[in-house]
Formats: sequence, C-alpha cells, structure tokens
Amino acid sequence: MAKVLIIYSTKYGTSKLVAEYIKLKLTDVIVCDILNINIHKIKEADIIILGASVYYNGMRGEMKRLLFKERKALSKPALALYVCSGVQEEESRNTQPRNVFGRRLCNRALISICAGYRIEFDKMDVRDKQFLQRVSRLTEDKEEIYTQEIDRLIETVEEYLRHSEN
Ligand SMILES: Cc1cc2nc3c(=O)[nH]c(=O)nc-3n(C[C@H](O)[C@H](O)[C@H](O)COP(=O)(O)O)c2cc1C
Repeated sequence: MAKVLIIYSTKYGTSKLVAEYIKLKLTDVIVCDILNINIHKIKEADIIILGASVYYNGMRGEMKRLLFKERKALSKPALALYVCSGVQEEESRNTQPRNVFGRRLCNRALISICAGYRIEFDKMDVRDKQFLQRVSRLTEDKEEIYTQEIDRLIETVEEYLRHSEN
C-alpha cells in the first residue's frame, strides 16, 4: 500500500482543516504539522501532499525552509499541492499555487490547487488584524473553502494510488 503523507503549514488553522478533510476521504494517510516533521517521514512516503497558507504575499517561513532543506528527499515522492489563500477571483485562484510554490514545483506536482481561506479576527494577533483590516477592508469574519477543488486533488491522488498498485 502506497504511503500518503500530508504536511501542512498553518498559522490560524485553515491548512490543518483542509489536511483533515483530505485525510477523512483517503485511507492510510499520515497528517503532520510542518513543525513536527522529520526526514524519516518524508523518506517513507510515496506521495506527499503539501499545504501552505499565504501571508504577506508568500508562504510562511517554515514551508520555505522545508522546501529548501529537504529538497533532495522531496524530489523523490509524487507531490500534490494546495494553498490556503484569500484570493477570490477564479483567475487569481488558478495562478496562486504557482505564485506561492513556484513554477518548478507546480510543474512536477500531480496537481496544485487553491483550497480557500478563513478570516477569524478573534484568533489574530494585533499586527495581522490591523494589516488585514487595512488591505481587505473586511470588518467581519469570512470563510470560503473550495471543496470541489479539494475533492479534485483527492481524486487525483486516488488515481495515482490506483496506478501505483498495479
Ligand atoms: C495578516 C494576514 C495576511 C494575509 N495575507 C495574504 C496574502 O498576502 N495573500 C493571500 O492570498 N491571502 C492572505 N491572507 C489570507 C490567508 O491566507 C487565509 O486567511 C488563510 O486561510 C490562512 O491559513 P492558515 O489559517 O492555515 O494560516 C492573509 C491573512 C492574514 C491574517
């Protein structure tokens, strides 16, 4: 049985939520917060799903560091990518994974998607709250999770697993 590993990087929980949604629909999946990841888990995986949330126009430092530090180990398994990002227009949602993960990684991934976003002001630190209120003019919590896109990622992974078993 192929081993699926989901590594997510999150600040306020959206990427974790998406990882757990994916885990529910696949069998034999390990979900791991990027802060607890180790090289052995990466080396044992046949397929890795990377989930990154976007802040100040880029992925968080911990995901950047993982992609750089473990680039050799990450070059072996199949990859699927998702971003949690506040962009809403369809065109921006389509280009956002490439902007965040980069062209090379997206080209080599089986699929890359924008999974949606969650804005919860109560959870945020002061700096994040002020920034978001300034740039988005949002005053209330908001959430959009693109389950159709996440299901598309799940189907792609399932198809890969079916082929690798044959
Ligand atoms: C301070 C702040 C800055 C953000 N900056 C961006 C951004 O530059 N681009 C974007 O698409 N989304 C941005 N977002 C939206 C987040 O990506 C979104 O809230 C996402 O759900 C966060 O995921 P997480 O809870 O897993 O960290 C920002 C959110 C906050 C709170």
